[in-house]
Amino acid sequence: MREREDLEEKYAALDRIIQRYHSDKGQLIRVLQEAQEVIGYLPEEVQTYIAGKMDMSVSEVNGVVTFYSLFATEPQGRFSINVCTGTACYVQGAQNLLEDFKRNLNLTDHNTTADGLFTVKSTRCIGACGLAPVLTVNDEVHGKLTRKDVAKLLRTYKRQADTVKECPQLKKAEVKEIDRVPAGFGTNQEHPAAGH
Ligand code: FES
Repeated sequence: MREREDLEEKYAALDRIIQRYHSDKGQLIRVLQEAQEVIGYLPEEVQTYIAGKMDMSVSEVNGVVTFYSLFATEPQGRFSINVCTGTACYVQGAQNLLEDFKRNLNLTDHNTTADGLFTVKSTRCIGACGLAPVLTVNDEVHGKLTRKDVAKLLRTYKRQADTVKECPQLKKAEVKEIDRVPAGFGTNQEHPAAGH
């Protein structure tokens, strides 16, 4: 029952978003961004719903969703790890990092761990090539990474999750303060292989 109400609320919110942009096809990306904020991800049924309301084909909407790495078509973990596999990062070993994360988290068929803690994906250049290889975890950027950093990063974020579990009242900002990512994950130095 509660689930059905939740779903109705989400679709009502979706309607409001689409109305705000007057079903303007040129605003599709904004609509999708806001829809993802409300629903968490953009499954096929949501894409179909948006397409119908904006008088577009499902393949047009799906084309945009699958083109931009910021959009997700399946539920996302609490920590979304996006490994940049653009050229500068790729030549600095980004693919190995990506595989190490997946191996470490036992991700074979899915991008998200069963406990919903981590989602691991590759992404295009995020414009921080000087720090290659680079990844983001939610809105935090980590650069100049080596394969040794994979386990360290996962430990850091698992610890962060445990801290919140133990003390649910703790605000996100306070958690960040308590459990800062160890120095050495990101630097401001220019990397000689910078470029796209
Ligand atoms: S190629 Fe990775 S940040 Fe540009």
